[in-house]
Amino acid sequence: MDKTAFRPPVTVAITGASGAQYGLRLIEALVAADHAVWVMISKAAHLVIDTETDAALPARPERLAAALTERCGARAGQIRCFGREDWMAPVASGSGAPSAMVICPCSTGTLSAVATGASNNLIERAADVALKERRKLILVPRETPLSAIHLEHMLSLTRMGAVILPAAPGFYHRPVSVDDLIDFIVARILNQLAIEHRLLPRWGE
Ligand SMILES: Cc1cc2nc3c(=O)[nH]c(=O)nc-3n(C[C@H](O)[C@H](O)[C@H](O)COP(=O)(O)O)c2cc1C
Repeated sequence: MDKTAFRPPVTVAITGASGAQYGLRLIEALVAADHAVWVMISKAAHLVIDTETDAALPARPERLAAALTERCGARAGQIRCFGREDWMAPVASGSGAPSAMVICPCSTGTLSAVATGASNNLIERAADVALKERRKLILVPRETPLSAIHLEHMLSLTRMGAVILPAAPGFYHRPVSVDDLIDFIVARILNQLAIEHRLLPRWGE
């Protein structure tokens, strides 16, 4: 498959906050929109995925890519996965990283690491690259209640140009299923990325 046939890549990192379904659905939606998707899943996120979903996702990047490709009905080469310390991955450098990255869901641990520039693993490094290159960076935190530490990190990241998009679905569209709630958040992320979708009608439609 000619990889140039895909729309531009979007980096999706799934970290160990509750709400793994948001991240998995986001990958599906990006695949459906014909974008290449570059995926990183933290160790804690694998535990959350096992706890919250029936998705059996292997940890090793090549196997993970194969499993996600099958799960999402992606084309060959559309989904690429990178490991925790895969420093040679394109997302690790401003010269190779996509123009947009979403951390969904985003644990408060990763939120803190990104806010302080820790770059101790590839997810944190990729987010650091997005910030330094002034690219689109969307973080989808899920925690409640929020401490002053969480709030201060969210404020500093917003001031740095990142988008904080809490996993807090609305109810005015009368959701009847968990899928409706998940799609509410995924639709908001796609709106931020300016990617067309039909997950939810836009306000006023
Ligand atoms: C089932 C489960 C649910 C969790 N839910 C949350 C959560 O909602 N928000 C959060 O910030 N951390 C949550 N955690 C804790 C994080 O996984 C933990 O802080 C971890 O170190 C995050 O690592 P990561 O950022 O590298 O993924 C949860 C952990 C487990 C096992």
